[in-house]
Amino acid sequence: MILATLFSPLSLLLLLFFSISTLSFSHFVPTFPSSSKFHPELTTQLSRSSSSSSSNGLYETKFFTQTLDHFDYTPQSNHKFQQRYLFNDTHWGGANNNAPIFVYTGNEGNIEWFTQNTGFMFENAPRFQALLVFIEHRFYGKSVPFGGNREVAYANTSTLGYLSSTQALADYATLIIDLKKNISAIDSPVVVFGGSYGGMLAAWFRMKYPHVTIGALASSAPILHFPGLVSPYVFSDTIANDFRSEGENCYNVIKSSWKQIEDAGKTDKGLKLLQKSFRLCKNYSSDFLEGWLQSAWTYTAMTDYPTPSNFMNPLPAYPIRKMCEAIEKEKKRSAFEKLYAAANIYYNYSGSATCFDLDDHSDPHDLGGWQWQACSEMIMPLGVRKESMFPESEWSYKSRSDSCQFYYNTTPRPHWITTEFGGYHIHQVLKRSASNIIFFNGLRDPWSGGGVLKSISKTLVAIVAKEGAHHVDLRYSTKEDPKWLTHVREKEIKIIASWIKRYYRDLQL
Ligand SMILES: *[C@@H]1O[C@H](CO)[C@@H](O)[C@H](O)[C@H]1NC(C)=O
Ligand SMILES: *[C@@H]1O[C@H](CO)[C@@H](O)[C@H](O)[C@H]1NC(C)=O
Ligand SMILES: *[C@@H]1O[C@H](CO)[C@@H](O)[C@H](O)[C@H]1NC(C)=O
Ligand SMILES: *[C@@H]1O[C@H](CO)[C@@H](O)[C@H](O)[C@H]1NC(C)=O
Ligand SMILES: *[C@@H]1O[C@H](CO)[C@@H](O)[C@H](O)[C@H]1NC(C)=O
Repeated sequence: MILATLFSPLSLLLLLFFSISTLSFSHFVPTFPSSSKFHPELTTQLSRSSSSSSSNGLYETKFFTQTLDHFDYTPQSNHKFQQRYLFNDTHWGGANNNAPIFVYTGNEGNIEWFTQNTGFMFENAPRFQALLVFIEHRFYGKSVPFGGNREVAYANTSTLGYLSSTQALADYATLIIDLKKNISAIDSPVVVFGGSYGGMLAAWFRMKYPHVTIGALASSAPILHFPGLVSPYVFSDTIANDFRSEGENCYNVIKSSWKQIEDAGKTDKGLKLLQKSFRLCKNYSSDFLEGWLQSAWTYTAMTDYPTPSNFMNPLPAYPIRKMCEAIEKEKKRSAFEKLYAAANIYYNYSGSATCFDLDDHSDPHDLGGWQWQACSEMIMPLGVRKESMFPESEWSYKSRSDSCQFYYNTTPRPHWITTEFGGYHIHQVLKRSASNIIFFNGLRDPWSGGGVLKSISKTLVAIVAKEGAHHVDLRYSTKEDPKWLTHVREKEIKIIASWIKRYYRDLQL
């Protein structure tokens, strides 16, 4: 694809945005979707109470005065900001019983969105008599430093520089310790939970703050997706395999589409045909269309759940299968009609789209800060090999760095994450230094390639589900859940219960 080397200001602006457009795959930095489906009963509760009231039938909203910079003692470092956290003590067994505290380590978006999608914690609160706390990540949602002023906070590196994973972890430690003091629950064990980037934070939190948490459930946490640790191709290869598993023809139709789209894009007549075939609102260049289709295949692979879901967009159960069926159904029609039918499942399952706007940059879940994180610490290499389903594109650290220079006037630190948290020889290292982490991965999830897929010790347990997608385990359970998913959750619950039991035993000694 030509744009790999072409730096138009437009492509730079879109560069790290999750609704990618004119970019080659190596420029495409997908955000991590969180788990999906709204619990049917909760949806009504939530919409009923979406007013500014602080309690909505799921949780109360609270704010904590947080320190801007935990690692410096300069005047600016002592600035404060309001950090939001959500709180539910309905089933808590209380401080007198040292009943447990379950904490969700928030990731790159509005914490309410993650909370509403983490049914696992709500469903297990009664069994563990747990207090539930969901902490928002700094710079996202309502936890924006500099007086909550986004324009200032996101203006440039002098303010954005405070957005980092290490600061976020220190926020969590500070808040948890203060909260335990306030509710006199000093001896209550804390278990942390997270999915995706939130799962990485949960795992790292257990490694760095073992005095604050007794264990972590790190779901779909690609803590190894950093330079030199995994092939940049695992991500795109996994998506290709997902489609291929539903039919060789499906895979081939998509694989051969890119050249056809590019060829069509070369003439006015061809562009007209693309606009008509894909029901586009206006004339777009073929690069936009390619980016739009790549997003559809990628996000559908991440959320290829066995039950209907609503993460970014509403989707049926097994959406990749549905896409491939749609392609088969249009057997007699043109390649563009086939692709349209498949993309329509991702972009128009609700049936409400009148035409498709390829440069829609709305960001309802407030994920935009990930752009900065991908330009500072989160250098997670992605590339596409020639045999793949996507257009070939080499991972290039230089092109990432060039765009970060252009966009933020900053140079990433590609090795900071592995310096701070490790990653090389992780089995040997963690076997000696860590305990009590569950690494869940579903192998249909493109991020699983950067996950911990083998158990490291008796207490560092990898749970791998061949049929699973991106942190499917954290979603609300449904009656239609397949057996393997129920088993995964049961296994996780059993392990968490064993950590708590052990903790109480040690407490009595
Ligand atoms: C807390 O969550 C439970 C579900 O685990 C729900 O029934 C309850 O209403 C919630 N409490 C508050 C105060 O929102
Ligand atoms: C960053 O933005 C602020 C305005 O919010 C401005 O005062 C400051 O000079 C800018 N700093 C740099 C390095 O551009
Ligand atoms: C603990 O209590 C103090 C005093 O009321 C309050 O300012 C602070 O925000 C509380 N901490 C948390 C984590 O809510
Ligand atoms: C459509 O856009 C392309 C560039 O993206 C341009 O070259 C072409 O002339 C446009 N065609 C029409 C019919 O507007
Ligand atoms: C979306 O789906 C509805 C119902 O199937 C259909 O009528 C409409 O044309 C579709 N929109 C687009 C843009 O394809």
